[in-house]
Amino acid sequence: MVGGERRIADAHLRMRVAADYERRPLQKAAATTSEAPQWGLRFVFHFLMNSIETNISKKLAELGVADAAGLAPLFAEVHARFDAEATVATDEGSWKLFRDAWLGRKAGVLTLITDNWLKPASPELKRVVGAALNELRGHVEAKIEERRVAIEVGAENAAARDSVDLSLPGVVRPIGSRHLVRQVFQEIEDIFVSIGFSVVEGPEIETPYYNFEALNIPEHHPVRDDMDTFYLELPKGAGSPLLLRTHTSPVQIRTMEKTQPPVRVIVPGKVYRRDNPDATHSFAFHQIEGLAVDSDITFCDFTGTIEYFVTQFFGVGVKTRFRPSYFPFTEPSVEFDVSCPFCGGSGTAAGGGTCAKCKGAGWIELFGAGMVDPAVYGFVNYDAKKVSGFAFGIGIDRLAMLKYGIDDIQVFFQNDVRFLRQFP
Ligand code: DAH
Repeated sequence: MVGGERRIADAHLRMRVAADYERRPLQKAAATTSEAPQWGLRFVFHFLMNSIETNISKKLAELGVADAAGLAPLFAEVHARFDAEATVATDEGSWKLFRDAWLGRKAGVLTLITDNWLKPASPELKRVVGAALNELRGHVEAKIEERRVAIEVGAENAAARDSVDLSLPGVVRPIGSRHLVRQVFQEIEDIFVSIGFSVVEGPEIETPYYNFEALNIPEHHPVRDDMDTFYLELPKGAGSPLLLRTHTSPVQIRTMEKTQPPVRVIVPGKVYRRDNPDATHSFAFHQIEGLAVDSDITFCDFTGTIEYFVTQFFGVGVKTRFRPSYFPFTEPSVEFDVSCPFCGGSGTAAGGGTCAKCKGAGWIELFGAGMVDPAVYGFVNYDAKKVSGFAFGIGIDRLAMLKYGIDDIQVFFQNDVRFLRQFP
């Protein structure tokens, strides 16, 4: 390329970079230029100077300026240019270019102003130019120093952010503990495991067959009303309806289907019913199911097992009693009560007055149980003539509330650490 063409091409390039720069908001320009290679920045600074260059490379007389009034807009433009450029200097490299463009001894803007505006000026004008130039120099030097400090601090902060002080103590995170309901499960599991039961689990989503029918609760049986509950919305054409299990009893069936007698299992788990939440009701709660089936299990084995459990759980001295009850899957069915462990069965609180726990009755209703109804064996292909057994279903939340003096079942589900922390 010959000299003339090259100059034209250079000028085009400069104009393009400059035009870009002009169109962008300043901050954006700064962000862009800080990523751009250094030569890009050179163009930007160069251009900025160029636009005032026409002025600062001419003498005041040539510009037709003869007094302070004519001088003011010239200095104002230089000021404005400087302030615009200052935001472009965002790292050490661009700051150096910026500094040299303005303070460079040979061709910095201030040198050019000194050479072209100040020196040749008439003595009267010289004073005004000198004053304006001093003011400009003060501004330029202060601002350039300010940018340098800002860039340095920014770099230091970035370095501090990236460095790790290994001598600092670690972050201590509080260690959680088992939920009280889980603790009570564990306590009951330990008691039953110690007398030969094993722990099994079953699904929380059940079919009506396991939740009802196989437990001898046919479709229109009135006990279903109590358990009328959460059915899942299934796509059209799906097989069996599904519901959230209303009790852990379906796992009796699932266990007997898989295992031949002898069976001795307990089943901890969550169950669901359509209940309005209040201090003693929740639509989700916990049960432990128990099932023992063998060739010669009697009602005595049943009461003996329950009594053992109750004394282990509440302490020696607590008496048990059972009252007739009804469940479709047990025959006979009973309701187990314990003598109130808090007032010793007297119904009177230690300081006098009625015992708040048993409300003066001396007995507390604990759970439902019974001898497995022979009809149930029919559903799992056990020979009802050869086997017998007992089953029970313990409500864990109620038991935990009773044992630990909790008066609102809702606290089990609220995950309030102030409550949870009391049971580490
Ligand atoms: N499934 C019963 C309920 O949730 C509790 C129950 C009663 C379970 C008697 C049993 C039982 O295993 O024999 O109300």
